[in-house]
Amino acid sequence: MRKGDIIQNIIIDTMAAEGKCVAKIDGRVIFLEGGAPGDTVDAQLFKIKSNFLEGKVTAIKKLSPNREQPFCGHFGTCGGCSWQHINYPTQLQYKQKQVVDNLERLGGLTLPPITPIMGSNKTRYYRNRLDFTFSAQRWLTWDEINNTGIVNEPALGFHIPRKFDKVFDVKECYLQGDPSNAIRLAAKEEAIKENIPFFNLRTQVGFLRTLTIRTANTGETMIILQVTYDKIEWIEKILTRLERDFKQITSFNYIINGKKNDTFSDLDIICWKGNPYITESMPSPIGKAALQFRVGPKSFYQTNSEQAFQLYKVAWELASFQGNELVYDLYTGTGTIANFVAGSVKKVIGLEYVSAAIDDAKINSQINGVTNTEFFAGDIKDLLDDNFLSVHGKPDVVITDPPRGGMHEDVCQMLLKALPEKIVYVSCNPATQARDLKILSEKYEIMAVRPVDMFPHTMHVENVVSLKRI
Ligand SMILES: C[S@@+](CC[C@H](N)C(=O)[O-])C[C@H]1O[C@@H](n2cnc3c(N)ncnc32)[C@H](O)[C@@H]1O
Repeated sequence: MRKGDIIQNIIIDTMAAEGKCVAKIDGRVIFLEGGAPGDTVDAQLFKIKSNFLEGKVTAIKKLSPNREQPFCGHFGTCGGCSWQHINYPTQLQYKQKQVVDNLERLGGLTLPPITPIMGSNKTRYYRNRLDFTFSAQRWLTWDEINNTGIVNEPALGFHIPRKFDKVFDVKECYLQGDPSNAIRLAAKEEAIKENIPFFNLRTQVGFLRTLTIRTANTGETMIILQVTYDKIEWIEKILTRLERDFKQITSFNYIINGKKNDTFSDLDIICWKGNPYITESMPSPIGKAALQFRVGPKSFYQTNSEQAFQLYKVAWELASFQGNELVYDLYTGTGTIANFVAGSVKKVIGLEYVSAAIDDAKINSQINGVTNTEFFAGDIKDLLDDNFLSVHGKPDVVITDPPRGGMHEDVCQMLLKALPEKIVYVSCNPATQARDLKILSEKYEIMAVRPVDMFPHTMHVENVVSLKRI
């Protein structure tokens, strides 16, 4: 076998952790880009290693019964909802498999019977946040280059996967509900009409950089416009147009960013009009009035608001609180989990490093009449030390919800010292969760594993694991 060879009639068996298809040829594993489990395909080899091969599907000979017609015109280009061609029950099956494979193989963990993954009621328009990039030159397909004569057009859309300088123009996106599509199209139209320069990602010249749209289940909408320098006439042209056309927008913000990259966690956000936050609402797990959560422009909020409630309910159920516990909510964000469980326990302490999120967390306790929470800003690996435990008390229960990278090893070691009776670990990355659970398994046993799907049509999966001190 050589690079470039086409292998015919490969039957795809399954899906691997990163969403690639997996098959076997002559006893060797081949990872494939494209295809669906159950397809028979031809594929061209591009990597040959002693223990595995990698290839790209070039032709589909027989379609899998697990397939479905993708509903989005951008499917195949965007990379955002790359599992649209697989029906939802099959997607769920592979997400659950991903969790089990990671915990068993990577973590070497012994698992109790797994509760079947909880699917999302909404499989379209489920996201509450999208970040779009302006680009002076939209990405063109070969067909457009060869057959349309288009050479240069601006774009407001998403990056092509793994290509920092290539942005394709989004016509319609099924990820975020109204008025997301209309806001994006209006912002782009206004910018073109007023000749406001789009940023060129290669030359780093231009004005308009990104547009973030955050929608809440209360109907409130936030926009964050990011530009390279302070030219208020241009900023106001866009914001005034959006203000005129979209009464749903309750929070208008902009950021001046002259840096090389688009991240804005270290930059000032200027609230042009409206509130510097939007409000999400979530049912209480104990049947009290719905909780209200204020979310500022820099704060994290679970991107699928409806499933966030299901996820928190799973964590709350697995913690099976008695009412007298001291709970630590690690990586608390805007204190959502802390406030969600506060009514069921004695006290909750939330830790998080974005100080603006901690400000929101405190406000969230206030507006919900929650008086038994305390929040601290800082990196958890530095905050959570012997001194912190002796001042605030050792937790009975820890709920931890780290970012994709998982917990720092020092944090795992600190948990082994603090030795809460229960740990509930919420994760958006089963691989790092497996790594961390392996460390914790020194003193904890896994009681339950409950995957939850927050991101239909993607390979991503959320997983909740409860642990009991041995
Ligand atoms: C997956 S989010 C969870 C937030 C929250 N539990 C929720 O459900 O909305 C992870 C959070 O961890 C915070 N974070 C990331 N690394 C951190 C660190 N080293 N120390 C403290 N917080 C951190 C992020 O800012 C983010 O708010």
